[in-house]
Amino acid sequence: MKVFIGGKLVDEKDAVVSVFDHGLLYGDGVFEGIRAYNSRVFLLDEHIDRLYDSARAIALHIPMSKKAMAQAVVDTCKANNIVDGYIRLVVTRGKGTLGLNPYLCEKAEVIIIAAKIQLYPQELYDNGLKIVTVGTIRNHPEAINPRIKSLNYLNNVLAKIEAINAGCMECLMLNHKGEVAEASGDNVFSIRNGIIATPPSSCGALEGLTRNKVMQIARAAGFQVREVPMARYDLYVADEVFLTGTAAEIISVVDIDKRPIGDGRPGKITAQLAALYAECARSEGTPIK
Ligand SMILES: Cc1ncc(COP(=O)(O)O)c(C=O)c1O
Repeated sequence: MKVFIGGKLVDEKDAVVSVFDHGLLYGDGVFEGIRAYNSRVFLLDEHIDRLYDSARAIALHIPMSKKAMAQAVVDTCKANNIVDGYIRLVVTRGKGTLGLNPYLCEKAEVIIIAAKIQLYPQELYDNGLKIVTVGTIRNHPEAINPRIKSLNYLNNVLAKIEAINAGCMECLMLNHKGEVAEASGDNVFSIRNGIIATPPSSCGALEGLTRNKVMQIARAAGFQVREVPMARYDLYVADEVFLTGTAAEIISVVDIDKRPIGDGRPGKITAQLAALYAECARSEGTPIK
């Protein structure tokens, strides 16, 4: 495998970072997870815009233009013969000292890995996910704003540990006010009486690109779509609930905290949205070749 690091493509074994890199020492950096479908990079410009916004929010200068970054992503896919794959784009603060001071870091390190995607088992798409609410709340917006896709994912990792310990693959995370925020690595939507709703990012959700695309697709298909604060109650009484994310795409949730959602089976509108999303993924995107 070829990895982009230090401004060029190198063999995987030579793709190394310093032990003084603040990405490693402090989780100081930002990242994106991107999908390639059918030899195209899906939502590439949107991912790059979000990466640069996250970097700006943590006062991290990315030493490449957006255009050069997009080209580097495509080149990395090309070098690894990616047709359908998953791309991890990471920007760390770079090599510094053992102290916290980010201004002592020489230069941000840009790393691009293009690999195969590890999907949820098909059985979970067919039958839906069971999730639980976890005690770990989403980061307070004035600590690390959840809109920043930072390398510091300990908040989400702790939530994931709770989910797995409870026998679930995913979980529901609330914000500091007890409102629904999102899952540990996905956004959450409800459908009730044909109206589609998701919490606004101000409630502690990452502004997911799959989320944005699904809202766009749903509106184009004639659905009413709302961004509204939600309590767990709103999900418990929904007809359908689903999660969205670059890796998971659209996946039904059929049980939350032992309350079956709707009839306890993946819903029809969710399936309709998933089909429309799959069609976009197959046909849109930046060509790799
Ligand atoms: C915390 C969190 N929420 C939501 C998402 C979904 O965002 P996207 O659809 O852009 O992948 C992700 C995925 O990266 C995430 O890490």
